[in-house]
Amino acid sequence: MIFDELRAIQLRYGYLPKAELQALSQRTQTPLYQIHSVASFYPHFHLTPPAKAEIHVCADMSCHLNGACELRAELRRRFAGARPEDVQIKDVSCLGRCDQAPAVAINDQIFANITPDRAEELVRRAIREDELRADQLHEGRVTCASDPYGEGEKYGVVRRLIATKDWDGVLATLKEAELRGLGGAGFPTSMKWDLVRKQAEPVKYIVCNADESEPGTIKDRFILSNLPHLVIEGMLIAGLITRAKKGILYIRHEYPLQEEIFGEEIRRCTKAGLLGKKILGSEFDFDLEIFVSPGGYICGEESALIEAIEGHRAEPRNKPPFPGQVGLWQKPTVINNVETFANVPQILARGVEWYKTAGVGGSRGLKFVGVSGHVVRPGVFEVPMGTPMREVIFQHAGGIRGGRALKAFAPSGPSSGYLPASMVDVRLDFKALAEAGSMLGSGAIVVCDDTTCMLDMALTAVRFYRNESCGKCVPCRMGSQKMVEMLARWTQGGVSGAQYRADLALLEELSQAMSLTSICGLGQIVPAPIQTVLKHFRAEVDAHVLHGQCPSGICFSESARMPELARVGIRP
Ligand SMILES: Cc1cc2nc3c(=O)[nH]c(=O)nc-3n(C[C@H](O)[C@H](O)[C@H](O)COP(=O)(O)O)c2cc1C
Ligand code: SF4
Ligand code: FES
Repeated sequence: MIFDELRAIQLRYGYLPKAELQALSQRTQTPLYQIHSVASFYPHFHLTPPAKAEIHVCADMSCHLNGACELRAELRRRFAGARPEDVQIKDVSCLGRCDQAPAVAINDQIFANITPDRAEELVRRAIREDELRADQLHEGRVTCASDPYGEGEKYGVVRRLIATKDWDGVLATLKEAELRGLGGAGFPTSMKWDLVRKQAEPVKYIVCNADESEPGTIKDRFILSNLPHLVIEGMLIAGLITRAKKGILYIRHEYPLQEEIFGEEIRRCTKAGLLGKKILGSEFDFDLEIFVSPGGYICGEESALIEAIEGHRAEPRNKPPFPGQVGLWQKPTVINNVETFANVPQILARGVEWYKTAGVGGSRGLKFVGVSGHVVRPGVFEVPMGTPMREVIFQHAGGIRGGRALKAFAPSGPSSGYLPASMVDVRLDFKALAEAGSMLGSGAIVVCDDTTCMLDMALTAVRFYRNESCGKCVPCRMGSQKMVEMLARWTQGGVSGAQYRADLALLEELSQAMSLTSICGLGQIVPAPIQTVLKHFRAEVDAHVLHGQCPSGICFSESARMPELARVGIRP
């Protein structure tokens, strides 16, 4: 409720005036410090009056590769004389439009594929206090091989399940299929559901994680647009198996279109008796609602997500206990990714044998991947699991833009680190990517051509984590800042050999400490981008640090040098 109240205030005033927060505190009998601690946590809320044009330039991987720095610099130049109460230009983390980079948000409205001219026109309108309307995302409905229903009647698996009540059969099938979570961690889904099923507690919840805020990750957006019925059916099945009566779709606030599509599907299901009391005339109830995230990458971490739904700061909980035991409102909770839920009815409708053979090279099932960066056709593609990365990049995404050569790719956003072009035959598969020293993660393939500076890309990725660290634990909060400072210094050259050796030793120690002692996966993965760049592109890093040369000509150009320091946020 607190977020609805805060959103309503912000809608009325454009920010959260102190007097309004005090009134809210009295009205809801909530201490003011608690309201303030929540309001100040989420980037979406403003505690001071915003400028007439608040420009937020996405500074993350895919946008960075598509001219975000130049766009920001150009806008700064064009509005150099503007009053601060008229124009503010800031960075923002990934806006979920990685396939349409660069993206900006102006007064919270997102515009993709943006040019300096278009941005200037929008900003001038905002200064005149015209209302801006975000670009509609054109996620044209497409037929997906993952849909077992095609044009026919949907929800067949749930109908059959309610008739047979074969709960054990569902778990056995998912176990035999070896379905693993597709949100990043790859945890076996049947084990998670079984754990929740076994809890004696009568109240349980099913949560679908559609927060996807990691740079490059856009596949859940696509699935929600095209296969909302499979996501709902997967959640319904989880409810029936575990006896949970309530499901929640947790969706990032930058996806209003998907919220609308999902809401429409909920209404259709309710009308058809698939949701609500006594579904399909059975003794089972299941309600579904949508929770719009107040923002921030950390909200995708399952326990932080729970904290956000409960109206707190999205700070991850210490584990154990896991959400399957003590989750939302302290009750056992299944949390799965959008794609994981969508896989469940597929497997149950088509059978394990189909699932086993749907992939290639021994991999199972189909996979949605987002491809962005320097490719001809950025977008979301549905491919058999096990497909070689070469095929994804060069066939589905049309190869490297401008006829250039592939230099590197991140198989899954910043958390996977970067692999060199020589490894492009690696298969899209949990095991193959782990053996390559990377990860399947959320299938966010970010492609870099041969003009890219890999040290710059490592810095961009580590800076994302620094910006998004919730700050709850010291190793991540301090370690990520320390790492950004070190890498920023490296991009500026002029470091002595002795200092470089000391930096590398410190980096190693810091990485270990962060991996071992951070509370959640964010702090543990911060070192991955620079570790992989040091492993595969060491000569390039050495050239910067020891010889003051950026082989790609990015880090030492006069125009890039000074803004770079401010951009990475070197603090004295
Ligand atoms: C910082 C952080 C962000 C995460 N963001 C997401 C996300 O946006 N979507 C998601 O499904 N999982 C995300 N995860 C993983 C979730 O914590 C959790 O493992 C996942 O939702 C479980 O679903 P699955 O088993 O179906 O993959 C994130 C984890 C961390 C540490
Ligand atoms: S590791 Fe980072 S993001 Fe995770 S709880 Fe600690 S400070 Fe927060
Ligand atoms: S929208 Fe910019 S990286 Fe995703």
